[in-house]
Amino acid sequence: MSTDQVVRTFTDFYQERGHRPVNGGTLLPPPSDPVLFTTSGMHPLTPCLLGRPHPQGRRLVNVQRCLRTTDLDEVGDPTHLTVFEMLGSWSLGDYGHSQSLRWGYELLRDGFGIPHEQLYVTVFGGDDQVGPDTHSLRTWRQLGVPVEPTGEDNWWSNGPVGPCGPDSEIFVWTGGPGTPPEGTPTTDPRWVEIWNHVHMRHLRREDGTLEPLRQPAVDTGMGLERLVTVLQGRNSVYETDLFEPWMRTVPSLWHLDDEPSLRLVCDHLRSAVVVLGDGVRPSNTGRGYVLRRLIRRLLTTLRRDDPSRTLADLPQEPIGHTLDHFRQPGGVEAVREQLLDEERGFTRLLERGRRLLSKPEFQRPLTDEDYGYLHDTHGLPRDLVAGMLGTG
Ligand code: ALA
Repeated sequence: MSTDQVVRTFTDFYQERGHRPVNGGTLLPPPSDPVLFTTSGMHPLTPCLLGRPHPQGRRLVNVQRCLRTTDLDEVGDPTHLTVFEMLGSWSLGDYGHSQSLRWGYELLRDGFGIPHEQLYVTVFGGDDQVGPDTHSLRTWRQLGVPVEPTGEDNWWSNGPVGPCGPDSEIFVWTGGPGTPPEGTPTTDPRWVEIWNHVHMRHLRREDGTLEPLRQPAVDTGMGLERLVTVLQGRNSVYETDLFEPWMRTVPSLWHLDDEPSLRLVCDHLRSAVVVLGDGVRPSNTGRGYVLRRLIRRLLTTLRRDDPSRTLADLPQEPIGHTLDHFRQPGGVEAVREQLLDEERGFTRLLERGRRLLSKPEFQRPLTDEDYGYLHDTHGLPRDLVAGMLGTG
């Protein structure tokens, strides 16, 4: 199944069951939202999960692109991405959690063809504030899927305050059909989590206490790239059709010694294209700074072995593929120009930094005051200077 078929199978399944597709999908949350980027499918729906009616009704389905800066340091391993997509379904005070689990099971088995024996789930086992999730436990037992109860791993919230609740995580066996698992999802990492069904039935207040929501909701989220990796029988998201244009183009332009660097360059290029495609421009604050850091990080990795490498060699194809996939207008050439502009600015900054740091007054360990001066007067961020000095 190609990625497009996976998306269509998911959205068709829920639309056939009365869910309306939610428009949008941009990485940018509404202006009233304090976070820089959308971090999960439910994020833009938070007011509705707290009871505000949604114009599309009480059953919703969506594909939401997300960006998590908290995962940046993990990028380079086989699974983490800076920009990823979440397939989501919601019941806003309509059907219950048990129905959501049943549909989830049906879709995985019949829609995506994952054999029953390759599924395992976890449910909330209870803590000192909330009892165990016996409803979900019963549903999974009725479906004949093995269940493992856990503690905080099965409690979902989008932050310290706000809607939250117990969840059920669905795992798929990736060890191969002939290799039996040696344990449960919490003990054998070859069980890979693909889908989370949250029963949003509490509100966490500032003082940490929980209040029951008047209108409990169901919020599900499934990482598209991870699902595609499993369905396409790959070991890494970089081996799927989603990354094919990047993984073909980047190594043909630049030889990168190690797999994590190649993945980082592909991930950051693709993420930068998506962020640019959503209208963000590089800057020294907020979203623009996240974008700037992505581009600088990929350039630093790219030029480690050969400082003459440049994004000017990058063809239009992978950029176009990514913009098409995310249905972003804007145009390939405009996005490519933004990348090149940022590269030129970074190159000038590095040259200025090198000239300054070679002066006699900086031939000693730098103080906080030096870093302040280099930043405030010369626009050289501390992490960049530390990187140039080899202390970052
Ligand atoms: N909001 C839940 C998650 O992101 C579904 O895992």
